[in-house]
Amino acid sequence: MTKTSAPLLSIESLSASAEGSPILHGVDLAVGAGQTHVIMGPNGAGKSTLGHVIMGDPAYSLDGGRILFDGQSLAGLSPDKRSRAGLFLSFQAPAEIPGVPVSSFLRAAAAGRDGLDLKGKQFRKRVRALAEELDMDPSYLDRELGVGFSGGEKKKLEMLQLLLLQPKLAILDETDSGLDVDALGVMSRGIDAYRRTSDGALVVITHNTRILERLDVDRVHVMVLGRIVAEGDASLVAEIDAHGFERFERTPEDATRDGGAAPDARGDGAEAARQADPSPASADRAAQTVATL
Ligand SMILES: Nc1ncnc2c1ncn2[C@@H]1O[C@H](COP(=O)(O)OP(=O)(O)OP(=O)(O)O)[C@@H](O)[C@H]1O
Ligand SMILES: [Mg+2]
Repeated sequence: MTKTSAPLLSIESLSASAEGSPILHGVDLAVGAGQTHVIMGPNGAGKSTLGHVIMGDPAYSLDGGRILFDGQSLAGLSPDKRSRAGLFLSFQAPAEIPGVPVSSFLRAAAAGRDGLDLKGKQFRKRVRALAEELDMDPSYLDRELGVGFSGGEKKKLEMLQLLLLQPKLAILDETDSGLDVDALGVMSRGIDAYRRTSDGALVVITHNTRILERLDVDRVHVMVLGRIVAEGDASLVAEIDAHGFERFERTPEDATRDGGAAPDARGDGAEAARQADPSPASADRAAQTVATL
């Protein structure tokens, strides 16, 4: 797969809040076309919030910074426009819409999109082919959206949307619980098919490192308390698996109190962050990261 260095998604100093409470505090993230990034972090760190803010969820207000996608600012764009621009978010808790059959939902989602505005029969054929690829019983397409779906079935539905819409960048927000072996398999298969059939980028938000085993991960970001506190290559996943997030959760105050005896920062991560973005602000942040760790 060709990987380019120009960021497809560029998030700069993003701060956001919900119901008046600040959640994200100056988040920076750059994802190149075709790349696979992973965001990890303890519960409540703000990972899902980041996904929702990127998609323009009106529950969150943007307090600072900006998001560029494909060279364009996303400011003021509705979630639908962002989706049509090529962004996709699989929700940690997918919606249930009684009365709306899956097939109608997919039809509405695809309407007006290049290459997807197919005639009824062709559209059904396309969706059925994708369902088969995911080993999904076609009868699900006639069921009400999400209603009574098991965790694995919801996952299949999400993967079906992913394969149908072929976004330029997909953010997959994973539930850590409730994903049994079957659902994990569905996800892996969906991701494989997505990578095979498009040159799309992937941001995987997960606690479940098993899903990452088959992925060629370019970059790992660790989020704690609404900040990216460490970055590194795929080896960071194994480290988090072995040691958890404890050492990332130390605040600068903790480090000062302990006489500066903070564990070594991942030199590679901080260094790579500097290399990826050589701006003074980024170098400052990298230095702060080192201090925090
Ligand atoms: N719509 C909202 N309204 C109020 N508070 C919110 C909202 N969304 C998120 N929060 C709060 O923001 C914080 C971060 O939540 P978020 O769901 O982004 O964390 P997370 O990193 O995805 O956690 P997890 O790993 O458990 O999924 C939490 O304290 C949460 O309660
Ligand atoms: Mg979450």
